Amino acid sequence: APRIAVMTSGGDSAGMNAAVRAVAKSAILRGCQAWVVREGWEGLVRGNAEGEEESTDGDATPPHPEPETLPPSVAQPPGTSEARRWRGTYGQGELLREGVGEAEELGLKGKYILRVGWDDVRGWMDQGGTLIGTARCAAFREVAGRQRAARNLISCGIDALVVCGGDGSLTGADRLRAEWPELVAALLERGEISAEQAQRHRHLKIVGLVGSIDNDMATTDMTIGAATALARICEAVDSISSTAASHSRAFVVEVMGRHCGWLALMAGIATGADYVFLPERPPPGDWRADMCGVLARHREMGKRKTIVIVAEGALARDLTPISPDDIKAVLAERLGLDTRVTTLGHTQRGGKPVAADRVLATLQGVEAVEALLEATPETPSYVIGIRENKITRIELMHAVQQTQLVAQRIEKQDFDGALALRDSEFAE
Ligand code: F6P
Repeated sequence: APRIAVMTSGGDSAGMNAAVRAVAKSAILRGCQAWVVREGWEGLVRGNAEGEEESTDGDATPPHPEPETLPPSVAQPPGTSEARRWRGTYGQGELLREGVGEAEELGLKGKYILRVGWDDVRGWMDQGGTLIGTARCAAFREVAGRQRAARNLISCGIDALVVCGGDGSLTGADRLRAEWPELVAALLERGEISAEQAQRHRHLKIVGLVGSIDNDMATTDMTIGAATALARICEAVDSISSTAASHSRAFVVEVMGRHCGWLALMAGIATGADYVFLPERPPPGDWRADMCGVLARHREMGKRKTIVIVAEGALARDLTPISPDDIKAVLAERLGLDTRVTTLGHTQRGGKPVAADRVLATLQGVEAVEALLEATPETPSYVIGIRENKITRIELMHAVQQTQLVAQRIEKQDFDGALALRDSEFAE
């Protein structure tokens, strides 16, 4: 049976667990083995310290019954999951749920690439963060690191990989696939893999899922985690609003979004904020004068509170960064407003995914497995997106390059061009 592994990489986002669950369950339902890579690219580079040979004997475990004829809960008989075998129980996924800190106790120390069964991902839909862990990995940026990653994938017999992460993680995925034949040739030459393994693993199939709270990937309308982060921001701003109105205060609320103002803009609309600062749409002319004009008008109309939402990557027209403290100083000095700054930080990233993220991650996870099963050496690697409420496949490198082009246009102060490019499916 083909072996499909799924990993999460880069900053976590709500819905990543739902994506892992969907990939694992669809893989099993489609007669494949489901595997997970813990700790992102770092885990792939580290691999399994011991027992690599043991991992390759997965086909010796009982074959899967036909999913059509049996309810899903028995589609994979107990005991076929390595994870459960190590623990010696047929648990409900508590093994991976425990996290890395418990790795040693659970017999996972030195094991980063694991086979999982149906029950291992049960109950994952509503969990925040990523239960299989994520890490930033310097080693993967070096060719030696990617060679180790390739060797580890091959020694576990993995045929296909689903990577859920942001544009940096997906760039890494594309590079791995592009270099794959050279990596395999080098491993064969050094005797680290056999000729049979080199033959079976001539091609690596990769599919990307976009997990990012920033909603910053060009070519797709929504990324996994953005809707949850937005909901979290709205709850926070609602709370801030009541205390702001009580004291007639101004609040400057900083939200995430390094290169993308989607969260700030949507939160501005959803909370009826007075002013928003974004990276892609700096205020006209002198931002201080423009903002004070708008806010003073709102106060004159009788508003008791002032809410300004600022994306962490907000820029002025001349591309100088605008910080919450800059804004606070202007509000205090020019408008005499009693002003507080609130940085929402990582509360936006963690916590339970909202329904929209669970659904998006599930639909896209299922589509990722379909794309892998249909992939041929000739088809490109895809990233799974959503356009106008339809799940889509976009060429991975195209999506990544277009995202980078957006940033370049902002750097050239071509703000309209940047926004048009982020919205369009095709590069101009
Ligand atoms: O890309 C997602 C994001 O949440 C950004 O909005 C933010 O700038 C960044 O990650 C923070 O990342 P970390 O705290 O993991 O370094």
